[in-house]
Amino acid sequence: MAELEQEMKRTGERIRRLERGAISRVQETKQRAAQMRVAGIMSGTSLDGIDVAVVELPAIRTLKFLSVPYPAKIRERLMAVSNAVTHTAEISRLNYEIAELYAKAVKRAGKVDLIGCHGQTIYHEGRRNTLQIGEAAVLAERTGTPVVSNFRARDIAAGGQGAPLVPFVDYKLFRHRSRTRVALNIGGIANITVIPAGARPEDVVAFDTGPGNMAIDALTREYSGGKLSFDRGGKIAASGKLDRALLDDLLADAYYRKRAPKSAGREQYGAEFVARLKQSGGALCDLITTATVLTAATIAKAVTSFVKGPLDLIVSGGGAHNPEIVGHLAAFLPQARVAQSSDFGVDVDAKEAIAFAILAYETWRGRPSNLPSATGARRAVLLGSVTPTRISSQL
Ligand SMILES: Nc1ncnc2c1ncn2[C@@H]1O[C@H](COP(=O)(O)OP(=O)(O)O)[C@@H](O)[C@H]1O
Ligand SMILES: [Mg+2]
Repeated sequence: MAELEQEMKRTGERIRRLERGAISRVQETKQRAAQMRVAGIMSGTSLDGIDVAVVELPAIRTLKFLSVPYPAKIRERLMAVSNAVTHTAEISRLNYEIAELYAKAVKRAGKVDLIGCHGQTIYHEGRRNTLQIGEAAVLAERTGTPVVSNFRARDIAAGGQGAPLVPFVDYKLFRHRSRTRVALNIGGIANITVIPAGARPEDVVAFDTGPGNMAIDALTREYSGGKLSFDRGGKIAASGKLDRALLDDLLADAYYRKRAPKSAGREQYGAEFVARLKQSGGALCDLITTATVLTAATIAKAVTSFVKGPLDLIVSGGGAHNPEIVGHLAAFLPQARVAQSSDFGVDVDAKEAIAFAILAYETWRGRPSNLPSATGARRAVLLGSVTPTRISSQL
């Protein structure tokens, strides 16, 4: 009798084990089927080119990343329309032409279910207006894939700066229960996302700190007679001498004292800013050093105004490859543990493209993804315009 009972118990356990296995296999299959492949396309203010990341969502697994530089002529033309006085015809042409480049780039990354396209900002006046070009219709037509684009417009319509939008993703990726995290992206412009320990979304503060690589790039082009488009490894900055008086003069700008939310663009740190640096009469390599220290100093100033204790600084963007910027930053912020986003599994160059894949996915799922605490919008809104490939009740 006891033997029979034992036998029945063992059989029961075996059945339960098999059931558990079957259930988890079903769950796994369901989860896999629910995953979408989303391509994020990002082209930042540096005007260096087009970044494409393919991300599996909602798991947030990056499957692919590639960068395609803009042809020099396109870059020049984009630079030429990134101002307040330009011909409408050229903007209209570029709107279609760069969309063809986006389509080519995204097709190289393979088949996806959805595309999130940031577009190329050619003008930005936070809170008032912003313009990203790269026609979504072309992208949808060339790829047969629905596109979410024009992410910033709705946030501005809701009273926000339309920027920064990546903090929603930084919060998702980097928040920590007991450590304060600051995500720093050094693109053409630099921006930080401050995520206090145990923060709720509404506790996140984010804003553009000032220049990133933009002025350094412009000075480097001039220094090298157009041969170099950026100061690789910070070599030129390391060879120059800091102009302290000029640095102090630049640091006195009202922008650095302005309260967040605030955002910056080529309007502040483009041609006029570089002309102002050159007016000091310093040698170009010294100006590159000074611009490099300015980037680090303004980031450090912004961080210390929001974080009093220790923090993890998580660096991404092309500037993460510049040891001069990162070195000065570490010296200005001894209380920070300086890491790269790659240390957290997010490729430094891919982060913003990954972010726009995630933001597109949120829109596709019908969820708002601006952080009003970061952009200053009156409320959280559903971002972007959807260019469908077929009409379904989902839209
Ligand atoms: N190896 C490197 N050394 C120094 N700077 C670099 C390096 N690689 C990239 N950069 C800088 O990063 C910039 C591109 O950064 P990116 O994150 O793409 O900015 P954006 O988002 O504005 O396009 C380049 O213009 C250059 O200034
Ligand atoms: Mg770029």
